[in-house]
Amino acid sequence: MVLKAIVAYGENRVIGKDNDLIWHLPDDLKHFKRHTAGKTIIMGRKTWDSLGGIPLPKRRHIVISRQADFNAKGCESVQSLEAALALVEHEQEAFIVGGAQIYELALPYLDILEITVVHATLDGHAYFPDWDKTPFERTVQVYHPADDHHEYSFTFETWNRKR
Ligand SMILES: NC(=O)c1ccc[n+]([C@@H]2O[C@H](COP(=O)([O-])OP(=O)(O)OC[C@H]3O[C@@H](n4cnc5c(N)ncnc54)[C@H](OP(=O)(O)O)[C@@H]3O)[C@@H](O)[C@H]2O)c1
Repeated sequence: MVLKAIVAYGENRVIGKDNDLIWHLPDDLKHFKRHTAGKTIIMGRKTWDSLGGIPLPKRRHIVISRQADFNAKGCESVQSLEAALALVEHEQEAFIVGGAQIYELALPYLDILEITVVHATLDGHAYFPDWDKTPFERTVQVYHPADDHHEYSFTFETWNRKR
């Protein structure tokens, strides 16, 4: 199983504010959909809450919570990242989709990071960890300019764990 993380972060690694995203970037949402459609997505309970109880179409959702009785329609719930990984061990690939707490837990297990670096420095409440890039190499870098539909420019980056 290949474990990937997918995240959009600002120049200061901010990912969210008030349990929501800070930007609306339609082409990044398409990028997220293209990568995760038909796959399993693993998330923290707060990121699940940010979906408003409506799972994303055509994706298996696994939610990590410390609450033994956490249960929500449209997702499977587990109490640790390791339990989530055990549920996907026979899948070809699975995605860690946040938020900050779950990215932090998952970093040692990740094979690939799909990062959208949003070229803005904004305030927020949730930040991607200050991760060590040394074990990874950047294999893809594609710039997207700001335009009428995108307030900020951004760059799609793929980082693969070095073999
Ligand atoms: N920009 C992006 O790409 C992106 C992606 C995803 C999310 N976000 C943003 O990130 C923010 C949410 O991130 P967050 O860090 O606050 O929350 P989170 O990581 O989504 O969820 C945190 C919750 O996960 C559970 N948890 C954490 N560590 C655990 C452990 N070791 N064992 C078991 N359960 C554990 C706990 O749930 P319980 O409290 O239920 O125990 C905890 O409250 C939002 O603003 C969201 O919009 C941004």
